[in-house]
Amino acid sequence: MMREKPYYLELLQEVEDVHEAARASRGLPAIIIDSLAVWQNAPDESTFPIEVLVAYLYDCGKHFLPAAVLDALADARITLDKISRSENNENLRYYLSIVLDKYDDRYDYNSYTANQWIRLNEQENMDSLLQQRDATVTALLADIIRFERSSIQLGAWQLPSEVPDKQILTKREHLAYRALSGPCNRLIGTVPDIETGDKVPQQLFSLCAESPSAQALLLTIVPVYIIHDEYMFIRILQCFEVTFQLMAVYIEKATQHAEADELEESSSVIECAHAVLVESACLFSLLATLQPMSFATFRRFTEGASAIQSDNYKRFEAACGKPRSERLNSPAFESVPNVRDDLLMSRTPSLQDVARPATTERLMSDDNASVHLRRALLSLEEAHQRWKTTHLTLARRMIGDQTGTGYTAGTPYLASVLENRLFWRLHRPPDRGH
Ligand code: HEM
Repeated sequence: MMREKPYYLELLQEVEDVHEAARASRGLPAIIIDSLAVWQNAPDESTFPIEVLVAYLYDCGKHFLPAAVLDALADARITLDKISRSENNENLRYYLSIVLDKYDDRYDYNSYTANQWIRLNEQENMDSLLQQRDATVTALLADIIRFERSSIQLGAWQLPSEVPDKQILTKREHLAYRALSGPCNRLIGTVPDIETGDKVPQQLFSLCAESPSAQALLLTIVPVYIIHDEYMFIRILQCFEVTFQLMAVYIEKATQHAEADELEESSSVIECAHAVLVESACLFSLLATLQPMSFATFRRFTEGASAIQSDNYKRFEAACGKPRSERLNSPAFESVPNVRDDLLMSRTPSLQDVARPATTERLMSDDNASVHLRRALLSLEEAHQRWKTTHLTLARRMIGDQTGTGYTAGTPYLASVLENRLFWRLHRPPDRGH
């Protein structure tokens, strides 16, 4: 077992202490190399110098880890492979796989967002999945509040470069608070008062029984550089990822209901997907406080990681309607080879495959359930179009005419995908085609 750590904020305190110690001594690179050498003499996952490593990553970013540190970490990974297969050993090895992704030439969006850790357990029922998602989003946003607050109150020791002024930090805190109020309210029926000061993040972390573990929260941020804004950027991507995952599961469930001719149930689940997608717009408002110059600086080191590689988003899209061949054979799906391969192999129908007869032929006979279903599909379509438009507007503001980190032309690509529709068959006249 990795050392049992009672609380996320205490862990961060330990990281901060390491940081202070480093300032007073020979510096972090020497400390980490020495610590790893000591650890190699009696390797055990419970004594791995995790605080030193986290402190060091906040101090230089993974893009700038010196070769000697990278080699020492790669050796530690080999040792960890040999010593045990416990859960905490797995966690540590996963963390090292993220830290070493550039070193291994495996760097991508999934690794950047640590998405193996920030995932819902799909074995659970629908209610529990929503709870997991809400708890995760609440914890991630509470962590943004903690991070921004500690910059105002303590000065920036994590990611110290280009810290925004107090006005932006306060605005960010309020927008994060607004974005978490929906999920938090569903979880506990109320939202802690933001004016209660320092206690807000603690209260929020402690109420989220289903949220990621303390260790996962600490280890799911591996910034590429030391720019302050990257913290919020990664956390927001993670919030969207669990939201997309939930939406994909909802649509798969809605398809099963529609196949079983349970059209009302299908409509209700589609409405749930619609509700979380609409709610997620608050995350874009928060992201809009990103400082474009700061984004431009750390973005130079995120080349190769782009949300175009998001499996969750494309799984949601494909669950709504199997993509047409021009989209399937475009960067949109070529960037998610696992999802694309599944689609090429699978015979599972999409929602539009099973919903179309119900929403066209029966619609003529004034069937209420069919009318309801059609309305639910079109509302989701509309919300998705709005999501894409907001995303494009934000992207234009942040990167102008620069190319994307996922190797597309950038905003011209995003403008072109506005034409794509989730339920593209429903937009054809009913009597023509399949
Ligand atoms: C500063 C904010 C953002 C900028 C500048 C931005 C920019 C871009 C660009 C240029 C692309 C095209 C692919 C590429 O070459 O990289 C893209 C794709 C995409 N982005 Fe963003 N993005 C931002 C935030 C987000 C966020 C927060 C999400 C949520 C996870 C997101 C989700 C997506 C998705 C799903 C795609 C693929 C769209 C498709 O293939 O149809 N983006 N983004």
